[in-house]
Amino acid sequence: MTQQHVIPPIGLGTFRLKGQDVIESVKSALSLGYRHIDTAQMYENEAEVGQAIKESGVPREEIFVTTKIWHGSLAGDQPIESLKESLKKLGMDHVDLTLIHWPSPGNEVPMEDYIGALNEARKQGLTKHIGISNFTIAQVNEALQVPGGEHIVTNQIEVHPYLANKKVVKHCQDKGLQVTGYMPLAVGKVMKDPVLQEIAKAHEVTPAQIALAWVAQQDIVVIPSSTKPEHQKANLAARDLRLSAEEIARIDALDAGERIANPDFAPEWDV
Ligand SMILES: NC(=O)c1ccc[n+]([C@@H]2O[C@H](COP(=O)([O-])OP(=O)(O)OC[C@H]3O[C@@H](n4cnc5c(N)ncnc54)[C@H](OP(=O)(O)O)[C@@H]3O)[C@@H](O)[C@H]2O)c1
Repeated sequence: MTQQHVIPPIGLGTFRLKGQDVIESVKSALSLGYRHIDTAQMYENEAEVGQAIKESGVPREEIFVTTKIWHGSLAGDQPIESLKESLKKLGMDHVDLTLIHWPSPGNEVPMEDYIGALNEARKQGLTKHIGISNFTIAQVNEALQVPGGEHIVTNQIEVHPYLANKKVVKHCQDKGLQVTGYMPLAVGKVMKDPVLQEIAKAHEVTPAQIALAWVAQQDIVVIPSSTKPEHQKANLAARDLRLSAEEIARIDALDAGERIANPDFAPEWDV
């Protein structure tokens, strides 16, 4: 199955950002040229993200907006209700992409139910595209097979130099899905890494930019968050970096299976 790439290669993450911080972050990013914003019902910042987009003056249709449905809202028509609530907060009649934030813990809600509901939301025009997040290889296979699953465009998963997640990345890409990599900077840890620092020095850039280039060179969408315009600008510029095969191999060697997002309701991860 091949699917065209519908998700812009870089977006702005908004996890943990609330109130005025998220408003400033989104407005600054849009003024610098970002056209893709990643939020979620669970981040409790959709109203501020919507406000920032409106106040930015950038036409809504130029911006790719992603939101996510929390795992407590997967039964029956709850996914559709959750998305409608998100749209109300965002002040939009549709988003560009809606993800199932985490698979149903212990498979309590059957996948065909919530993927079906998500696809119904797509048919109703509430979201242009649908996707999944934090799904394992087996769960990706199941999601693609249930009715409506053929419309899934991405699996958003944790990817950074300390958790390359190669097996899941390869599996999703082989199935024609775009992979979206979250926490690409390992929430700031990359800045202190000696290997990344050395490679960064050779390119006269920062370790954050090297980490982003390493993720992006694997054809993975990156969604770093930042409250600082100079960081946002640098992250955007990382698209133009090209790492050599040797540099990539050195960064690949940092993979330690070190997972940051690992709540107690997480699935049994692929190793
Ligand atoms: N689907 C999921 O379950 C899931 C889970 C986690 C995250 N996500 C998404 O992925 C996004 C990214 O993850 P994240 O925000 O947790 O972590 P991240 O993007 O890996 O790291 C963000 C941190 O890096 C710093 N930073 C950003 N750019 C920098 C630069 N150029 N130089 C130095 N430091 C820099 C930021 O600080 P400053 O503010 O000071 O720049 C911030 O502390 C989230 O915001 C969210 O949208 C999804």
